[in-house]
This record gives sequence, structure tokens and C-alpha cells, in this order.
Amino acid sequence: MKNNLKEISVYIHLPFCERKCLYCAFTSFVSSDDVQKEYVKHLIKEIENFKDGYKAKTIYFGGGTPSVLRLDLLGKIFDALKNKFEIEKDAEITMEVNPNSVDEEKLGFYKRLGVNRLSMGIQSLNDKTLKKLGRLHTKKEALYELQLATKFFDNVSCDLILGLEKEKNVVKYARKLIKFGIKHISCYILEVHENTPLYSLVKNKKYQPLNDEAVAKSYEELRKFLEKQGFNQYEISNFSLLGFESKHNLAYWSYDDYVGFGLSSHSFLDGVRYENSSNLKDYYEGKRQSEAIINDKEIEERILLGLRCKNGIDLEKLKNLGYILEKNEFFMQFLEKNILKKVNNKVFLNPNYYAVSDFIIEHLLP
Ligand SMILES: C[S@@+](CC[C@H](N)C(=O)[O-])C[C@H]1O[C@@H](n2cnc3c(N)ncnc32)[C@H](O)[C@@H]1O
Ligand code: SF4
Repeated sequence: MKNNLKEISVYIHLPFCERKCLYCAFTSFVSSDDVQKEYVKHLIKEIENFKDGYKAKTIYFGGGTPSVLRLDLLGKIFDALKNKFEIEKDAEITMEVNPNSVDEEKLGFYKRLGVNRLSMGIQSLNDKTLKKLGRLHTKKEALYELQLATKFFDNVSCDLILGLEKEKNVVKYARKLIKFGIKHISCYILEVHENTPLYSLVKNKKYQPLNDEAVAKSYEELRKFLEKQGFNQYEISNFSLLGFESKHNLAYWSYDDYVGFGLSSHSFLDGVRYENSSNLKDYYEGKRQSEAIINDKEIEERILLGLRCKNGIDLEKLKNLGYILEKNEFFMQFLEKNILKKVNNKVFLNPNYYAVSDFIIEHLLP
């Protein structure tokens, strides 16, 4: 029976934060102890109710800030996961943390639980920016915690946000972070979401992010710098040393099955996408939406997901779905211009064009 287990990636959403950052639109909030307990109770129920027959190849604790969660509650979630899934021996188990909510005790606990990858939100190494955006840590504290994290974990990733400040800074920060021996960097371009305090700050000219042109320049400089340091770009925002790509994220982009537990989590199971409610009360009542990904929708998703990362797209699969990409005139032009590369039956986007992947993908859709 055990041999018949199907591989799956598991995401756990922990929506708690010590304070809400001014730019952040993720489903997260400041919570009391009681809210954490209540949430974990429902989360565990959701895990228990999930169907049997799967083995977990990756587990990702994301947020919010998972490191804000009480350790005994985290232990209970792990127990529930172990009861539901066979966890593969070499499973990648990631915990998102931010520098102000982690310490030696927590890092040791995560390690004992089986966590083997840490993703730390650094965002910037400029104290003024950090303060302005509502972060609770300084540059010095962030680097101290990072150094601690690398003592406990070999596989550490850092998040940076590009566009917050002067265009040279992001390369400066990446250079500093790499010295700590991290294996992976995610660098997201700042998004100013309408429903965030940052939006009002920008509108009232109290905060001025980089303009689009400077962002593009800064992004290119970062790409070049990271490449020289041996960090391969395997997706628009993600760079890693060879073998340290996030297996969990690659599973999303590979069209593999994944299940998300918790508020606002998404799952993709046997061709159906599910989305849990982002309202706490509705989530507790089990409300979620679903959509079958079939026909043109499946073709679109396979092109979109495959081209935005190093996985590429499988021409044979598309053919089986009734779409012959070779008949698309833009496809042939992109191949000639070396924007796309074809190896056997697979097609990859040249990483130099990740930043404009939306434009290219748009021209390849049915
Ligand atoms: C779910 S957040 C969790 C990280 C963790 N709570 C922290 O703040 O350190 C994941 C990442 O998304 C990025 N992010 C959040 N809001 C963003 C925004 N408005 N624009 C660009 N990146 C953003 C940040 O880099 C952040 O580390
Ligand atoms: S960036 Fe991280 S710490 Fe800040 S509000 Fe978002 S999830 Fe919470």
C-alpha cells in the first residue's frame, strides 16, 4: 500500500505577525495567544480531514511570520502532519522567519522538528528604510540573527525587496548577505498595494520608491552580480547556488499536486485548484472556492508556469492537450532570436528575459 502513495507538496499558512509592515498585503495580522490556539485547532482539523494516500516531498511554513507561532503549537501541527503524511526522508522542510521573532531556542526547536531550510525576511539593510516601513529590526539585528540562522541551518535563504531605495543598494545588500554563506536569495520588486499604508505614503509624497526605469536597472545589476557569485536565476525573483533551488516553489511551477492548509491557502489536486477563504470566520466554517483547470486553461497554466522558471514547458504535453506551439508564429521568432531555447521536447525561456516573461507568454497562449 505504502508504495502507492502519491507525492505532494504541503503548504501551511501561519498568518501571525508581531506588527504589520506598511507595504504588506499578505493575509496576516497581529494575534493574541487565544487566536493562535483557536487557529491551530482548526488548522489541525483541516489536516486531519484531508484524504489519505500521500507522501510529502516538501513542506513549507509560510505567512505571515511562522516564527511568531508558539513552539508547542507548532509541535502539534507537526504531529498532525506526521499522522497524515509519510514525510519523505529527504523532504525539503522550510520555515519562514523574520529577524525580530527568532532566537536560538526557536532555531534549535525547528531543527529538532526536522526543518532543514530557513527563509529569512531581510528586505533592506538600511535602518531608516526599515523603520519607515514598520519593520521591527535594525540592520545589525538582522545580520546577527542571520549569522545565528546559518549556524543552525546549511540551507538559508534571504528575502530582499527591490525598489525601496537607491538603485545601487540592493547589490550592496546581496553582497553582504552572501558573505554569511546563504544559498538562496529571493528578491521581489516592491509592489505598492492599494489597501496598504504605503499606498497613502506614496500618494502623499511621504515615501518615494524607485521609478520603473531605475528598478529595471537595479534588477539587471543584481542579476549580473548574483550570476558572478555563482547564483543561478531559476525564476524571475529567485536565485540560488546549484542544488539549492526551492523544491517547494519548483513544485508549484511544475504543475505538480500541492495542498495548502490554513487561511487563504491554495491547493492543486488532480487538476482542480482550491482556495480557502481569507476571512477567519469563513475559513473556520470550511468555506473555499474551486476551479477545474481544463482545456485552454490547462494549456495556459502549463505555458505560464513552465516559462517563468527553469522547468520549461513540455511540447509533447501541450500536443496531447491539442495545442501545437510550433504552429505559433511568435514561437518560431522567439526561438530564432534566442529568447526561447528548445532542448528535445522541452522549451525554456532565456533567463535574460524573465523580467519580460509576461509579454512573451502572452504571445504564446492559444
Ligand atoms: C509572506 S512574506 C513573509 C516574510 C516574513 N514575515 C518577513 O516579513 O520577514 C514573504 C516576502 O514577501 C515580500 N513582500 C511582502 N510584501 C511585498 C511587497 N509589497 N512588495 C514586494 N515584496 C513584498 C517580502 O520580501 C517578504 O519577505
Ligand atoms: S512582510 Fe512579513 S512581517 Fe511584515 S506584515 Fe508581511 S508577513 Fe508580516
